[in-house]
Formats: sequence, C-alpha cells, structure tokens
Amino acid sequence: MYKITTIPGDGIGKEVLSSTKTILDTINIQFDYDDQKAGKECYKKQGTNLPLETIKSCEKTDATLFGAVTSIKEQSSAIVSLRKKLNLHMNLRPIKSPYNKDIDFIIIRENTEGLYSQLEKITDDGAIATRKITKKASENIINDAFKYAITTNRKKVTAVHKANVLKITDGLFKDIFYKESLQYPEIIANDFYVDATAMYLITQPQEFDIIVTTNLFGDILSDEAGGLIGSLGLIPSANVGYENMLFEPVHGSAPDISGKQIANPTAMILSASLMLEFLDENKEAENIKQAVYETISENKHLTPDLKGTATTNEMTNAIIKKL
Ligand code: NAI
Ligand code: MG
Repeated sequence: MYKITTIPGDGIGKEVLSSTKTILDTINIQFDYDDQKAGKECYKKQGTNLPLETIKSCEKTDATLFGAVTSIKEQSSAIVSLRKKLNLHMNLRPIKSPYNKDIDFIIIRENTEGLYSQLEKITDDGAIATRKITKKASENIINDAFKYAITTNRKKVTAVHKANVLKITDGLFKDIFYKESLQYPEIIANDFYVDATAMYLITQPQEFDIIVTTNLFGDILSDEAGGLIGSLGLIPSANVGYENMLFEPVHGSAPDISGKQIANPTAMILSASLMLEFLDENKEAENIKQAVYETISENKHLTPDLKGTATTNEMTNAIIKKL
C-alpha cells in the first residue's frame, strides 16, 4: 500500500488525473490517496494557489501525482514553487514515439534554478531576470543523468547549453559536465548548443539518448519533443529529489479543450507508470506502458490530438482492456 498525494489542479488536469486513478484501480497494488488542491480555482477559493497543507501532504506521502494548473498573474507558478519547496532537483521527461521506434530519448533538466529561479526585478529601464547556475545543482543533475543512463542501459549523455554566448553560466555547466563524465567511461559524453539541438531534434532525433540541460532549455525542448512525437499529450515527467517525488504530464491545463472530455490521458497515465518505476514496482510500470502503446498502435480509440474521435474515457477504457 502506497500513500499518494493527488493534486488534480485545473482544466484537463482534473480530467486526466481521474482517468489515471481508474487505471491504477485495475492493477495489483493498493493506493491510499490524499486529495489536495493547487492552482487557479484554489486561488479563487482560498486566496493562494499553493496551500501549505498541499505541500505538507506531498512531504508526508510516498509520492505525488499532479494534474496541471492554470497560471495566474497574482502569484508565482504553483508547480514551479512546489518543485522548489519539495527540493525536486531533477526533472526527467521520456520522449518515446508510438510511431517510430528509433525516437526514444530522455530529457533530464535541472529543476530548481536557472532562468526559473523566479529572481526578477523592475529596473529604471525595464526589468531583469537572474539566471542562477550553481556548481552543486549542476553536479547533481549531471551525475543523475549519467546514473540514470547506467541503470536504464542507455549509451550516451548529451549536454545542451549555450556556452558560446552565456560564457560564464553555461561555460560552468559545460565544464562540470565533462569533468563529471570522467567517472562514467562506459557512457559516451558529448554536447551541443541549444539552438542547434532544436534543429537536430527534428532532423536526427534518433541520435539522442539522454539530454542533460538547464531549466528553461529543458522546458522548451520537451514541448518541441511533444510536437516531434505527435502530441504534448504523450509526454510524462518525473520530478525527483532526495526526499520527495512528484509525477505530472508535461502539458498544462489546456483551457482550449478543457471540459470537453477530449484530452489525451496518456501523459498522465505514463506519469503514473513512471511513479511505479521510481517506487521499484517495475512490472506494473511496464504493463501500463505496454497497454498504452498497444492502444495507440491499434489506432482505434484515440483522442482528437492523435487524429481519433474517442473521448478521454473511451481511450482510458481501451487501455484498461489491454491491461
Ligand atoms: P498547454 O500544455 O495547456 O496546451 C498547449 C496545447 O496543447 C493546447 O492546444 C492544448 O489543447 C494541447 N494539449 C495539451 N495537453 C493535451 C492533452 N493531454 N491532450 C490533447 N491536447 C493537449 O499549454 P498552454 O495552453 O500554453 O497553457 C495553458 C495553461 O496551463 C496556462 O495557464 C499555463 O501557464 C499552464 N501550464 C501549466 C503547466 C503545469 O501545470 N505543469 C505546464 C504548462 C502550462
Ligand atoms: Mg513546459
């Protein structure tokens, strides 16, 4: 029995998390859920988009499943703040195409600093954001990437940066990358500039195995990867620290389709599968993944983002049948 905090949030976050719970109901593991609030609706009711009670629950339970939240201008992003409060320093996003078996790579990014340090200020002539890169956080994320390569039998880790322009901050990240890489002689280490990587993801995505990068670059490249494999609704993520972990789809609350029951539940369901992997429940994690990919290959019960006509529930039920 695992204790799991669930945070549906706003918009399609609620729809895809509800689907995911029905999937988890069908497997041979018991979960005790603690439902908590965050996001825009929560702000309207409670005056905060991230109540203390929500953070406390995430700290107490074995893991958190997070749907998605709608941003508000009054407060900083609930999910970005939660990642920082829980010290979830690693953000891991598996990019696996259901249509092309050669596209199967992972984007691992530093999750607590970089341009998402939320250090912004107004100046006389405009505004400034601070891009903070520390040695410790860089070493941690780079070692995480190499270790994950070893445990998952991957061959190569590519550092992505912009050290030709951001000579000091990304110069530091790149230097640490090559220094740490010496501990892992069995893994190939190389690096690219982020702008070139944006192109290579389209022209030669099969070349990537594990990408390790800073916060903003990883965020942008992972949405691009969503386009590459067909839908943002296919990409799950793990946010992992030394004490806590949280799993969420890469997408947001999608106000353009919310309430219509047409959101693709895959990203959230695969996030639950990733959660099981990190809880060392590898068999059930793999079963869910297979059921999802078989359902997509069958091409019968797909949501509109994958050119189908199924509702969220119909696609979820098709996955449950495979399980
Ligand atoms: P979004 O990811 O919500 O949507 C981008 C596009 O992808 C939309 O056209 C949407 O319909 C589509 N899409 C996303 N997920 C889908 C799914 N599961 N199935 C089918 N189509 C899907 O990003 P957007 O529109 O830029 O942001 C909407 C709100 O979400 C904003 O308030 C934003 O700040 C917030 N957001 C929250 C995130 C989080 O909670 N982790 C992450 C990204 C955005
Ligand atoms: Mg994003």
